[in-house]
Amino acid sequence: MPSFEDVLKEQKSVFSNKGALSPHFVPDELPYRENEIRKLMVCLAPALSGQKAKNVFLYGKTGTGKSSSTRTVIKKLEDEKNERVKVIYMNCRVYDSRYKVLQKVITAFHPSFAKTGYSFAVLYERLLDWLEKDGKQLVVALDEVDMVKDLDNLVYTLTRANDDLTNGGIAIIGISNKVDFKQRLDARSRSSLCEEEMVFQPYNAEQLKGILSKRSEIAFQDTAVQESAINLAAAVAASENGDARYALLLLLRAGELSDAEKLDNVTDVQVEKSRKSAEEDKAFEIISTLPEHQQLLLYSIATLASEVAYKRLVEEGGEKLYFSGEVYERYAAVAKKLGKEPRTSRWYREYLKELEALGLINTVQSGKGIRGHTTLIRLSYEPQRVKQVIETKVLGE
Ligand SMILES: Nc1ncnc2c1ncn2[C@@H]1O[C@H](COP(=O)(O)OP(=O)(O)O)[C@@H](O)[C@H]1O
Ligand SMILES: [Mg+2]
Repeated sequence: MPSFEDVLKEQKSVFSNKGALSPHFVPDELPYRENEIRKLMVCLAPALSGQKAKNVFLYGKTGTGKSSSTRTVIKKLEDEKNERVKVIYMNCRVYDSRYKVLQKVITAFHPSFAKTGYSFAVLYERLLDWLEKDGKQLVVALDEVDMVKDLDNLVYTLTRANDDLTNGGIAIIGISNKVDFKQRLDARSRSSLCEEEMVFQPYNAEQLKGILSKRSEIAFQDTAVQESAINLAAAVAASENGDARYALLLLLRAGELSDAEKLDNVTDVQVEKSRKSAEEDKAFEIISTLPEHQQLLLYSIATLASEVAYKRLVEEGGEKLYFSGEVYERYAAVAKKLGKEPRTSRWYREYLKELEALGLINTVQSGKGIRGHTTLIRLSYEPQRVKQVIETKVLGE
C-alpha cells in the first residue's frame, strides 16, 4: 500500500509555475529592451493628447522580444485609462486579410459584427463613425503582419481613413519576423507603414542567461535549476539566432525530462537531451516537406542502416557510413517497388548535395584503402526515426 509520502513524491515537480515558460506569458520586466520600449512609447504618446500616433514598423528575428515589448507598451497605454485611446492587438496568422483585420477591430466595439456578411464598405463606414464620434485615437497592432494577403490594401485603407476622418485617427504598429519583408511592400504602403522603424537585434549568450535566470525564479522551485543548465540553454540559443523563445523552450523541456525521471534538479544533461530532440523535430519537419525522390533516397539510406546484415557498411569512429553506389542501387530498387521511375545517377548526385546542405546527411570521400575513391554517406539522424517519419508522412503506412 502506498503511503502519502510516496504519493506526494510521485507528484513532485521541479516546476512551481510552469505556465511562466509558455510563449504567451508576458513577464513584468523585459530586460535589454528598455530602449525599444521607450522608443515605441514615444511613437504612441501623441494619442494621449488627441494626436494621431506614429505608424511604426518593428522587425527582427523570432524570439527577439518584439511581441512582448509591444504588449508591454500596449498595457502601459491602456493603464493610462484614456477613454479616447483604443488599442487593438492581433496576430495576423489568424487575421490574415484586410477584411478580417477590419472586422476584428470593429467587433471590439460592436460585438454583433463578429458574424460575417457585412460588406467591406459597411465595416469601413462603421469604423469611421465610431472614431469620429468623440475623436478617438486608435492604435492597431498587427503582429506577424507579413501574413496578411492583401497588406498593401490594408495599409492603404487604414492610412486613407486618416484623410476621411475630421476627428480622430488611426495608427499602425506592424511587426514582422522576416527581416527582408519590407522590400515586398509597394513603395506607397512601405513609406506609410514605416514612418518609424525599429530593428530588434538577436540576444547574445549573456543576455539570454539573464532572461533565463529571471524566468527560472518564477517558473521553477528554488534551487531546482542549476547554473550549468542555464548556461548551456543560453549558449545553444545564442548560436541559434539569439532566440529567447527557443532558450525558454529548452528549459521547459529539460524540466519536463527531470520530472519524468523523478529528479530534483535540472542540469545541462537534460538541456542537452532537449536540444537533441528539438533539433530532431526540426529535421523531421524538413524531411516531411522534401521532394518525393529525395525522401525515397533518405528512406533507402535508413533501410540500409537498420539492416544488421548489411555487410559493406564501414564503421568509422562508431559511425556507420554507406557506399554511394550501393545507396543508389537501393534507392532505384525502392523507387521501382513503389512503381516510380528512378532518377538517373546524375540527379542522384544532385540530391545528395541538397540533402547534405540541409544537414540531413554527410558525405566523405573514402581514402585509397576502400575501393579507390568513392563517396561515403552518413545519415545525421537515427535511421529508425527517419524511416518512421517517411513511412507515415509519405508512404502513408
Ligand atoms: N527581454 C526579455 N526579457 C524576458 N523575456 C523575454 C525577453 N525577450 C523575449 N522574452 C521571452 O522570449 C519569448 C519570445 O519573445 P517574443 O516577444 O514572443 O519574441 P518575438 O515576437 O520577437 O518573436 C517570450 O516567451 C518572451 O517572454
Ligand atoms: Mg512575435
